[in-house]
Amino acid sequence: MSDTVITLPKWYDLHAHFRQDELLAPLVEAHLAMGCAGVVAMPNTRPPVAKVFDEDPGEEISVTAYRDQLFAAANDQLDEIIVPLYLTQATTPGMIERGARSGLLRACKYYPPHGTTGSEFAQHFEAFMGNGVFAAMQDNGVVLCIHGEEHGLSGEDYFGRKDNAEERFYRQRMPRLRERFPDLRVVAEHLTSKLGVDFVRQAGEGVAASVTPQHLIYTVGDLLQNFKYHLYCLPLVKFDEDRAALREAVLDPDNRQFFAGTDSAPHTAKITPCGCAAGCFTGGIAPQLYAEAFELAGADLDQQQGVDALRRFLVENGAGFYGLPVSDDTFRLIRRPTSVTPLSTSAGEITPLPLGIGPGCPEGRGELAWSLEL
Ligand code: NCD
Ligand code: ZN
Repeated sequence: MSDTVITLPKWYDLHAHFRQDELLAPLVEAHLAMGCAGVVAMPNTRPPVAKVFDEDPGEEISVTAYRDQLFAAANDQLDEIIVPLYLTQATTPGMIERGARSGLLRACKYYPPHGTTGSEFAQHFEAFMGNGVFAAMQDNGVVLCIHGEEHGLSGEDYFGRKDNAEERFYRQRMPRLRERFPDLRVVAEHLTSKLGVDFVRQAGEGVAASVTPQHLIYTVGDLLQNFKYHLYCLPLVKFDEDRAALREAVLDPDNRQFFAGTDSAPHTAKITPCGCAAGCFTGGIAPQLYAEAFELAGADLDQQQGVDALRRFLVENGAGFYGLPVSDDTFRLIRRPTSVTPLSTSAGEITPLPLGIGPGCPEGRGELAWSLEL
């Protein structure tokens, strides 16, 4: 029997991390190699991407400069790059208005202060509710990308059987955001919980969610068994019922709200002096992992219905939400095993997600069920 081949338009990764300096080029190349036509490049660099124009005051990186760096690293092979502005104490409604009017500012990113990698420049959510920033975003059609986790919680409140940081955020803060700014377009980034999924579905079309491969494939048991720290990312992978809700949402024939955003977040050193850096690297292998995830979720990728669900999720929904054109170029997913190799960069080696594939990691999974060709 010949291998199943799925031809799809090139897709947008609507949540990815490309870092800086010598990491930029290899990371962008890994995204090009997996058929990306464009990306939303997250702004948690050092310093953060927290001003819009180069000439604006402050030492932060500007949206213009970071976008130019990414286009250059891609040799102009990416059609679309959206860089969300990192919301900080210094963000003003005027910055949002000017940025949006120039056409350059399409999105802003809210991080929970000290809640994840590179989030130490963030400001409390409530500040933006009252200081005109969310209002200016709503008025100017700027998308709010939200890392929806409550911060500053005790360990037991952060992750428990009945409650966790993400659920608190979607229970307490999101309804108020929706009530106050009903026309603000919101992306619930890297959604992980059933409660979050239910919130997005009932919120309707102004609210969407990015979903990572890892949150569709794994649960917290996979992370904890032998502490597979390459799977340590935030928000944490959760329980079976949470994963089931995500799977159901992405397979739904009416799905227009859930789309691919890998949150590919490379770390050259996952283990740190005081713990583990949060972030899973899926550059180069995300469509292959998503295909696998869809099959685990019950999609039949040998049938049109299954392929249609994958196409909506990977290609159409995110483009629709951000108003981007669907690419005329295509790539192919082929059901043929392929091996995963670490990405070597001049800043060090980066291990892709499938659970630690290096030597000395015998349970690591070095093979994927799907290959990708451009
Ligand atoms: C991201 C990173 O490493 O930049 N880490 C992660 O666990 N997802 C930051 C983020 O999006 O939380
Ligand atoms: Zn991220």
